[in-house]
Amino acid sequence: MSMEEKLNILQNKIDEAKKGGGEKRIEAQHKKGKLTAKERLELLFDKDSFQEMGMLVQHRSVNFGLDKQKFLGDGVVTGFGKINGRLVYAFSQDFTVLGGSLAEAHAEKICKVMDLAMKNGAPLLGLNDSGGARIQEGVVSLGGYADIFYRNTLASGVIPQLSAIMGPCAGGAVYSPALTDFILMVENTSYMFVTGPNVVKTVTNEDVTAEELGGADTHASKSGVTHFACENEVDAINHLKQLLAYMPSNCEEEAPRLPYTEGNEKRDKLNGIIPENPNQPYDIRDVISETMDGDSFLEIHKDYAENIVVGFARLAGRSIGVVANQPAVLAGVLDVNSSKKGARFVRFCDAFNIPLLVFEDVPGFLPGTDQEWNAIITNGAKLLYAFSEATVPRVTVITRKAYGGAYDVMNSKHIGADMNFAWPSAEIAVMGAKGAAEIIFRKEIAEASDPATKLKEKEAEYAELFANPYNAAARGYVDEVIRPDQTRERLIRAFEMLENKVDNLPKKKHGNIPL
Ligand code: HXC
Repeated sequence: MSMEEKLNILQNKIDEAKKGGGEKRIEAQHKKGKLTAKERLELLFDKDSFQEMGMLVQHRSVNFGLDKQKFLGDGVVTGFGKINGRLVYAFSQDFTVLGGSLAEAHAEKICKVMDLAMKNGAPLLGLNDSGGARIQEGVVSLGGYADIFYRNTLASGVIPQLSAIMGPCAGGAVYSPALTDFILMVENTSYMFVTGPNVVKTVTNEDVTAEELGGADTHASKSGVTHFACENEVDAINHLKQLLAYMPSNCEEEAPRLPYTEGNEKRDKLNGIIPENPNQPYDIRDVISETMDGDSFLEIHKDYAENIVVGFARLAGRSIGVVANQPAVLAGVLDVNSSKKGARFVRFCDAFNIPLLVFEDVPGFLPGTDQEWNAIITNGAKLLYAFSEATVPRVTVITRKAYGGAYDVMNSKHIGADMNFAWPSAEIAVMGAKGAAEIIFRKEIAEASDPATKLKEKEAEYAELFANPYNAAARGYVDEVIRPDQTRERLIRAFEMLENKVDNLPKKKHGNIPL
């Protein structure tokens, strides 16, 4: 056979692979408002940089007529390329081929790029669009999933792993994304559930739509399974690129830093954010955006446990993980969900050398049976544990309340923070003045001729003594009490000073975070 004939055979195979499940199925995919696996990769990677691997792979199954349904690539496009000039590995499931279902060959392709990503220290992105385990291939499909779960787990904390859910994601298909660092879902076209609405109806007799059960908004606000609910696929892909920009390629590296020239870092607006009445809410995002570079704040888990705000931002070009109590929601109290949300984010930042900045305004942990019965003790301990074991540079700014156990938890110096600042509006005490006065002056108040006036008097006495930052500063628990307008400048200096921080945990196999 001549070389020309051989080249023709190759070209035909490449053309066949490009067709996926065929034009009709691609059309159906587009009609649902979804892109194809390859179109998604084209949007994601720098122009012409994506290099496909395993384009000619096919399944080996003969069950249930599968021998007559063979497609080059077996329903997943895998490979590597550059995103903003940095090496990234990816797989993108092709729903047009057997519903993007996963079986032996499909899984082997994904495992191959996962192994390469680990060995070469580069992030792995998964674009998921799959009906789950390929039913016709039986246990081989389950084995394929387990091979992926195992690698997800081993790669955790070594390379960033990001999952975009671009279509249905049912059964075992949800657990690989769940093992990764960040999940993004697309509104109206993507779903995640362990069992779909039909099974739910059979087992629990509940009537629920796919959207209600496992749509993007459900998982962004109710379960917290997804970190982002994106308007459409293009929005999801842009979010993936944005997220990557704040992360290093692996746990041995630092996140990319943008050039920055220092200028006037005084931020006068910060002086006017805290209301005069200490019980009046304000939006901590105003403090974050006024302190950090330009529009650099990328909020994560925006609609879940809104009483804590987490996200990436830049400070003088450095990538920083921000964790902040949100006084505008539930007075910024710590509860089960906000503790879990905060802890997970802190652990990601610590695993990938991203310094942590905490803005603190917290009246304490949320009391009540709901919280106690849902294990606020165990869940609150997660956040405490996560901060305590973090060895990255850690800085705290107490803007207002730092009460009770929450003072300890929110990156206090006692649990290893490097620099702690407080604004003059800070109140650092065991509890609020009213509650404290009621307990410690109970007898005196009860015996007074006018108990209400006595309570007010004692409350004021307590507040005078403790509702300020100076007791903590006198003991060095706060390094400096600063004017709010100095915050940005102080933080830039602090993180610069901490740039080469080295801190090691005691030797152990691994800790036992209260899960
Ligand atoms: C084989 C599958 C498939 C699957 C879909 N297809 N899912 N083939 N195995 N798991 C095929 C369909 O037969 C169909 O082929 C084509 O893909 C498109 O599917 P449609 O149903 O026409 O698409 P749509 O209406 O959009 O519905 C999508 C869907 C639905 C919601 C995902 O297909 C579905 O419910 N699939 C089954 C989901 C599921 O139960 N998966 C197994 C989970 S158990 P044709 O040729 O007709 O076009 C699991 C265990 C893993 O994953 C455990 C690991 C821990």
